Amino acid sequence: MGSLMNDSLSAMGASIGVIERYREYLPVSDRTPIISLLEGSTPLIPSPRLSSIVGRGCRVYLKYEGLNPTGSFKDRGMTVAVSKAVEAGANFIVCASTGNTSASAAAYAARSGIRCAVLLPAGKIAMGKLAQAFVYGAVVIGLESNFDQCLQLVRDLSTEPGIAVVNSINPYRLEGQKTAAFEIVDALGDAPHLHLLPVGNAGNTTAYWKGYVQYYGLKRATRLPRMLGFQAAGAAPIYYDRVIEHPETAASAIRIGNPASWQQAKRAFQESGGAIEIVSDEEIFAAQSWLASHEGVFVEPASASSIAGLMKCCSQTACTQCPLPSIPDNATIVCTLTGHGLKDVASVLNDRVKPVSARPDKAAIMSVLERAR
Ligand code: F0G
Repeated sequence: MGSLMNDSLSAMGASIGVIERYREYLPVSDRTPIISLLEGSTPLIPSPRLSSIVGRGCRVYLKYEGLNPTGSFKDRGMTVAVSKAVEAGANFIVCASTGNTSASAAAYAARSGIRCAVLLPAGKIAMGKLAQAFVYGAVVIGLESNFDQCLQLVRDLSTEPGIAVVNSINPYRLEGQKTAAFEIVDALGDAPHLHLLPVGNAGNTTAYWKGYVQYYGLKRATRLPRMLGFQAAGAAPIYYDRVIEHPETAASAIRIGNPASWQQAKRAFQESGGAIEIVSDEEIFAAQSWLASHEGVFVEPASASSIAGLMKCCSQTACTQCPLPSIPDNATIVCTLTGHGLKDVASVLNDRVKPVSARPDKAAIMSVLERAR
């Protein structure tokens, strides 16, 4: 039914979802019911200001994944994972989440007509994401634990009949997420020289690398990018090479101390000649605010870590193994922006952001404008 619906939508000139767009590279067959919200095909926005900060003729692009149907990159993987779960006869999907996976799982479950339960660290989820899980109709379970413990519980549930786990430990999630790399190569005509992205559970890094390697193998790209990942300094297990028992960062989406795809992501950084680095919460919030006010792109804090990272690479404090100096002049650089800023408005509505109060007359407004000129 989903497939029929998408066919008629695309016949009407509407966009298509990632399974329809990249069907030949995905593990689906004619028997797979396609559960789609027409995710993917997100814009690759040129960033002239970041390009001039990097210099040497380099061009920086922003892969704005916040424009997916539930506002994050998770939808790419969820369309495949939920389609395969329904094909296999599951009637319940479950996931652990720092927020975005739960929003996406809940939406695709609603679309397919099966049930969804999400296990969340209580009190640690941005309100927009929590609202999404509720409104899409999921069973929302808040646990007095962190994300890593929620994920362990979900692993325990995976043996129950009828239940499908849709975290990125489900390989179909990564299959769907690799389509972002395909889109970037298709848009640029080749792979970028450098790809920067935030790292939490490390599934996305693994998926991008898989996509780039696959396209390179098919000669759709002449090179592979160096992968450069950024963890929040207080939640940086891959960077420090040890499990972090109590990860802490205000970028709640990447507050993870024991990533599921740790080894695969580490291999991606090594094989690509890239690196894993850290950014502080201060750097993350400065980058979030800079990106919104200089390029008009509002992302959630975790997503801003790729921008914070690029700025750090351009500064004096870059790490010694920073791959930026070794990319050629006129190189292309892509930063993935994983989630929409409206998911977590509390993170920007702090004391700095209070409306200027003014009398409701033109002169009063003009005097405010004069002061701001
Ligand atoms: N950015 C955002 C906005 C995220 O929600 C996540 C992960 C990441 C980056 C990191 O991606 O885990 O593939 O390395 N969010 C998961 C969730 C953990 O539950 O929504 P990753």
